[in-house]
Amino acid sequence: MFVLLLGAPGSGKGTQGKIVAERLGLPKITTGDILRAAVRAETPLGLQAKKYMDDGKLVPDAVILSLIKEELAKPEAKEGAVFDGFPRTAAQAELVDTTLGERGQRLSKVLLLDVPEEELLQRLTARAAQENRSDDTPEAIRTRLQVYQRDTAPLVAHYAQRGIVHRVPGTGTIEEIATEIQRIVGR
Ligand code: AP5
Ligand code: MG
Repeated sequence: MFVLLLGAPGSGKGTQGKIVAERLGLPKITTGDILRAAVRAETPLGLQAKKYMDDGKLVPDAVILSLIKEELAKPEAKEGAVFDGFPRTAAQAELVDTTLGERGQRLSKVLLLDVPEEELLQRLTARAAQENRSDDTPEAIRTRLQVYQRDTAPLVAHYAQRGIVHRVPGTGTIEEIATEIQRIVGR
């Protein structure tokens, strides 16, 4: 089963993705974590990605598409995976559709984590003090929220046409949200 966690920055994709991936026994693929590790290791990918990430902008598709391809080709993602943080643009969605399609597979469920902007801002500001993520600055947070609305939110309509979007109220305790996701995913 391939499951996509979709939602604005701070909506809980990482938190809930970890829980559902463990329960399903599937790998969680998180482009943000892969990119942050590349930045730390100062690899060519990291060096290219860093300035976009620090500004809260998307890393260009020219860079990301090959990264996604590589991740989907890994043996552990053969039967399924939980996607966190991608696809995030129309071109990325197209690549995921095509790559899975060629293997006779498809995305089964899109979980849309719905959290009001006020709460997103609160969570990211609180995390800034704890985790020191370089894109949790007020300016980068503002840009990330705008970029989500402009480039990523339109994917909801794309997947809704297929009837696979499930809106999950993203406020409440982590456990409550996880239970709702379990109900939707069916296990
Ligand atoms: P990415 O790492 O994907 O970050 P993001 O989308 O901005 O989202 P976050 O990771 O900040 O939030 P989240 O939804 O995972 O929430 P979390 O569980 O952490 O991307 C970062 C950057 O990398 C992008 O800006 C871009 O530059 C680049 N990038 C990545 N993928 C890309 C792609 N495909 N294409 C191009 N560029 C790409 O929760 C947030 C906080 O809230 C935490 O502190 C958590 O503890 C807390 N929290 C969670 N749930 C709850 C709850 N129920 N109640 C209260 N607090 C909660
Ligand atoms: Mg995350």
